[in-house]
Amino acid sequence: MPATMPGARGAVITGWGSALPEKVVTNADLTKTLDTSDEWIKERSGISERHVGGTTAELSIESARRALAMSGVDPSEIDALVLSTTTPDRTVPATSAHVQNALGLSCGAFDVNAACSGFVYALTVAHGLIAIGARKVLVIGTDTLSRITDWTDRNTAVLFADGSGAVVLEAVDGPGQLLAWDLDSDGSAEDLLYSDIGGHIQMEGKEVFRRAVRIMVDSGQKSLTAAGVDADDIALVVPHQANIRIIQAACERLGIPIEKAATVLHYTGNTSSASIPLALVDALNNDRLRDGDLVLLVGFGAGMTAASAVLRWGNPEAKAIDSSLTESGGRP
Ligand code: COA
Repeated sequence: MPATMPGARGAVITGWGSALPEKVVTNADLTKTLDTSDEWIKERSGISERHVGGTTAELSIESARRALAMSGVDPSEIDALVLSTTTPDRTVPATSAHVQNALGLSCGAFDVNAACSGFVYALTVAHGLIAIGARKVLVIGTDTLSRITDWTDRNTAVLFADGSGAVVLEAVDGPGQLLAWDLDSDGSAEDLLYSDIGGHIQMEGKEVFRRAVRIMVDSGQKSLTAAGVDADDIALVVPHQANIRIIQAACERLGIPIEKAATVLHYTGNTSSASIPLALVDALNNDRLRDGDLVLLVGFGAGMTAASAVLRWGNPEAKAIDSSLTESGGRP
């Protein structure tokens, strides 16, 4: 898969934010209705508690407001909204339509559904929009998996939850942060993890686990190779937050020490599209990244999909493109 094309207009992340519902459901809470235990859930998944509640639009609006405020970008300047979700509030229209209106944006808005790989898909699409003329793009990853989880099924109920993360991406006069990216999908694995319309998540956990490690490593290695960097060069890996054992196995095979992984799943559970931005925002809030550091984002999900990206954090060389330069708003 490609490294960023030489000469393509680059972009940098200038603001970020996250949102979690107020309601916390602990493992102990789940033992009241399920035949499970805090020890089993923690040992097998790494999850201690999760946040549950809200709609996909509500959580998206909250995380996006934080990202916009941090970037200092006025909603009227946003040229496109890309919302990654696998749990839209309605079949039609896209949840991004509601979010766009609530945020006061006047731009194209659409949803991306690539399950738990979705945020990296959306971020890649946003870089593509910037390469062809958009100047400021809002990228949100949100899921409310609690709405499609069968709370009587211990195989899935202990894993899934709700959350949102957002970033503002701005065009720069220079190469930008994205060095390389990879998007994969293997639709022959569709039945390993799915939810029919109006139904609940069905999952063959063991097989999903086995493939998850394989496809994360495969995608991560493709991006590292395309970027021309080694695993040793990576300062922070931001993996999809599904199971700490998957993260450990993938990091080991990628040759990246687990200490370099950003993890939030102990307090978020698996929030699908939100998991990578939640972990990235948590790492940033904890001062884990310096300008020039290399970051590997890597996810997998239903489909089965996989996606990864190598970013060079910060970009002191690049100058944000002045919004007054193009009357057309940067659109081609
Ligand atoms: N509490 C207690 N016991 C449970 C349980 C729970 N919540 N869920 C399953 N078990 C039982 C099983 O019934 C099984 O019992 P058995 O041996 O009597 O049949 C036993 O625990 C072991 O189950 P198993 O499926 O082998 O456990 P595991 O180590 O594979 O862990 C998962 C199960 C689901 C945590 C793990 O397979 C996983 O994380 N898979 C990937 C899921 C995922 O990432 N999905 C999202 C993708 S985006």
